[in-house]
Amino acid sequence: MKRTVIKSTGRYVPPRVVTNDDLAKWMDTSDEWIRQRTGIEQRHWIPEEGGVGSSDLALEATKIALDRAGWTPADIDLIIFATLSPDIFFPGPGCLLQHKLGLNSTPALDIRQQCTGFIYGLATADAYIRSGLANRILLACAEVHSTGLDISTRGRDVAVIFGDGAGVVCVEGIETDQDVGVLASSLHANGEFAKSLMVEAAASRLNPRISEEMLREGRQYPVMDGKTIFKEAVRSLPDVSREVLQKAGLSLEDIDLFIPHQANMRINQFFQQSLKVPEDKVFHNIQRYGNTTAASIPIALDEALEMNIVGDGSTVIFLALGAGLTWGAVLMRLGG
Ligand SMILES: CC(C)(COP(=O)(O)OP(=O)(O)OC[C@H]1O[C@@H](n2cnc3c(N)ncnc32)[C@H](O)[C@@H]1OP(=O)(O)O)[C@@H](O)C(=O)NCCC(=O)NCCS
Repeated sequence: MKRTVIKSTGRYVPPRVVTNDDLAKWMDTSDEWIRQRTGIEQRHWIPEEGGVGSSDLALEATKIALDRAGWTPADIDLIIFATLSPDIFFPGPGCLLQHKLGLNSTPALDIRQQCTGFIYGLATADAYIRSGLANRILLACAEVHSTGLDISTRGRDVAVIFGDGAGVVCVEGIETDQDVGVLASSLHANGEFAKSLMVEAAASRLNPRISEEMLREGRQYPVMDGKTIFKEAVRSLPDVSREVLQKAGLSLEDIDLFIPHQANMRINQFFQQSLKVPEDKVFHNIQRYGNTTAASIPIALDEALEMNIVGDGSTVIFLALGAGLTWGAVLMRLGG
């Protein structure tokens, strides 16, 4: 039977570290407030002068993942790129990454789905593989948030949360009788909450798409109804975990590690308490990276593998909720 496995992982974050104290120089905030409300201690941002796009971060993580998989770029059948912060408005970073890899005809599919980008990307890769449309897929997830944040006090509720980074996985279809790879996935969306977390401009529905007045109003920056996002996350994430467990015919005790999107440490602690699973079964690294949106889960997986918290044979659930709203989970047995 055809199974979709993760053959390798890679991560890359830009070297510039921005601490909570650094942020307090630009806006009215404090290390204590940020740690207490989010768990974040620092994040990585690209150089202040810019010049680094999501596809550049993804390229660095891709080199590591390809090397570990023993693949060359020519082995890739399809690139799936998940981001909410493309290098430019269009074309999407999938094409830019493809070119940087020295390829000139490999298909590249860009997806949005924000914090749920990795989950949607992995479920899509699984569907491509099972249908026979592709067998070796590079799933690249990368974000450059720092150039799009309002780092004045006006934007402090959002700006303190986000970090830049990339996480990449090489996904492959294998023929096996073993119960490995993607065992179940569930995807959801509810556009009713689109305004709860969004960047409005530049917007094709506005004419002009952006104006001096809009820039003054800060409509080019993300706005977030943090309380709604928090409430929806703590409600949906336990539900979608139970959903994939039921689909796979497994129970909570079968799961070695939950790797949730790193949006806020408190959301993930609520999740852990709600499912009544031991603390050490829920992975956290938001302290060091902040919320890297689509990249957070593959970065976390890469670290969990490096730390030997999981390995071949481990059963994991990846799960996320983000702007859209979108949410979902993928249950996987690693290895194969
Ligand atoms: C953003 C979040 C940390 C804010 O925490 P909160 O407890 O809801 O805080 P509130 O928005 O009620 O703000 C409380 C106070 O802190 C202030 N505040 C907001 N951001 C602040 C900051 N960075 N530093 C200091 N104070 C801040 C607010 O202005 C408010 O002040 P007031 O009481 O004088 O009006 C929280 O809502 C959250 O994490 N939500 C989920 C967000 C998320 O996951 N986003 C990513 C989705 S993928």
